[in-house]
Amino acid sequence: MKNVYTVAADLGLKPYMLGWKNSISPVLAEFAAGAKTIVEVGSLLGASVAWMAKNNPEAMFYCIDTWIDPGFPVAGPIQRDRFGAQMLYEQFLTNMLAEGISERVNPVRMTSTLGLKALAKAEVKADLCYVDGGHDYSEAFIDFVYCLPILSPNSVIIADDCNDRFPGVENAARLFAEQEGFTVEIRDMKAILRRAK
Ligand SMILES: C[S@@+](CC[C@H](N)C(=O)[O-])C[C@H]1O[C@@H](n2cnc3c(N)ncnc32)[C@H](O)[C@@H]1O
Repeated sequence: MKNVYTVAADLGLKPYMLGWKNSISPVLAEFAAGAKTIVEVGSLLGASVAWMAKNNPEAMFYCIDTWIDPGFPVAGPIQRDRFGAQMLYEQFLTNMLAEGISERVNPVRMTSTLGLKALAKAEVKADLCYVDGGHDYSEAFIDFVYCLPILSPNSVIIADDCNDRFPGVENAARLFAEQEGFTVEIRDMKAILRRAK
């Protein structure tokens, strides 16, 4: 079977990256720099994984996303398939090739819970879990819970976006921390969750 990146390269799409200012963040750079294995929940076109990879040329990444319809319009020149759907997965793979990081970025095309369970089954251990998937309270909370089995001893969960638009993320982070014995620090609109010593 062909590698997904070989299939994507054959499509000949042009790279097109769309990212948010807070994904290209100093906090992500700081925590990515010290990690060997990084799991990202919610990758979209790959801006945040490309940023983390720039800040850590050695780390391996697992990117979990459905790359179907994220629930908001994705602006830009993204090709559509014959059903009219934006080719987000193909665009993500194209972008990883263009960034020169396809060897280090393992796409996991699943829902967050299925993807995190699959990584746990494969005995993947992450030093950093960056959670930027569903931004409702319950979605964020469940993603934190499913991160638990894959955390390495000193690992960190970073959750985007703690702001007025998505109040559920910080609320979920605080409840999760209280229940599971983590500390919470809010910086740069992110919840940084670490096991309490
Ligand atoms: C805000 S975007 C991620 C942006 C990306 N981290 C960046 O900074 O470039 C959120 C992504 O999460 C994905 N997503 C949302 N809920 C999900 C779920 N339950 N399982 C898998 N992916 C999900 C969407 O498909 C979307 O691509």
